[in-house]
Amino acid sequence: MIAIIPSAGLGTRFLPFTKSVPKELVPIMGVPSIQYIIKEACSNDITSFCIVINKQKTALKQYLTIDNALNTELKKKNKLFLVEEINNIIEKCTIQFIDQYAPLGLGHAVLCARELSKYNEPFVCIMLPDELLFDDQHEPTLLKEMHELAQQHTASVIAVKEVPLSQTASYGIIKANSLPNTKNCFLVNQVIEKPNPLQAPSRLAIIGRYVLEKDIFDVLPTVSAGSGGEIQLTDGIAALIDKGKKVIAYQYAGNRFDVGSPQGWLDANIFINNKQKKS
Ligand code: G1P
Repeated sequence: MIAIIPSAGLGTRFLPFTKSVPKELVPIMGVPSIQYIIKEACSNDITSFCIVINKQKTALKQYLTIDNALNTELKKKNKLFLVEEINNIIEKCTIQFIDQYAPLGLGHAVLCARELSKYNEPFVCIMLPDELLFDDQHEPTLLKEMHELAQQHTASVIAVKEVPLSQTASYGIIKANSLPNTKNCFLVNQVIEKPNPLQAPSRLAIIGRYVLEKDIFDVLPTVSAGSGGEIQLTDGIAALIDKGKKVIAYQYAGNRFDVGSPQGWLDANIFINNKQKKS
């Protein structure tokens, strides 16, 4: 599978910092959040990426490109190990960038990647870089499990986790029934983008990992602007359901941090710091 990483957002929750630094480069214990995302994908055997950016994100492009001059200098000082992990990632992965020409929403960003993700695999993976997932011991294998489910059921699979009722207006929320003979799986019959707590059909929020049938690229052009006046990926998933397509929600049991917000960022730093102390 190829993973689309929509990274064209303005990072408004992290302004003024994001005025000049892309939010995907905000460091968590010194490592930019995008690096955790790509590492998670690699642990799930995904090494092809289409990163959707905008003209202001040149620093993100630069971070994901080998810097020969820097490598030479670091080598002289015996400090090449400082960039070893990111260099290895860049060398083993295929990373393509595409511009989202206007900030028209997450659904639109995914649609921008349509051409670049043309290949035979019937599913496309989408990873939102604001959401970092960490299991206590290992890298999360969530995407692999979602891909298996997608193949078994010929369905799209979205990852969900419960959030407090007071937070439903920040997320896509699902309405679903449990899926017989499965663990932690639901058959989704409705998805709503950012409902207020009174209208939320559940507390199960979409947490930024999607393995979708390629039909998503056919329905997204039919979706009109929704929450926030933007073309929403959630509305594209709703259109898949309306078309009679199967959508499964898989409840993630590990730790998740919304690092697009200062509080989530702080929590992620503390979690990683504790993890590093233990190892
Ligand atoms: C996006 C999605 C939303 C999802 C959330 C996860 O919202 O539209 O459905 O629950 O990511 O973080 P955003 O954070 O871009 O407003």
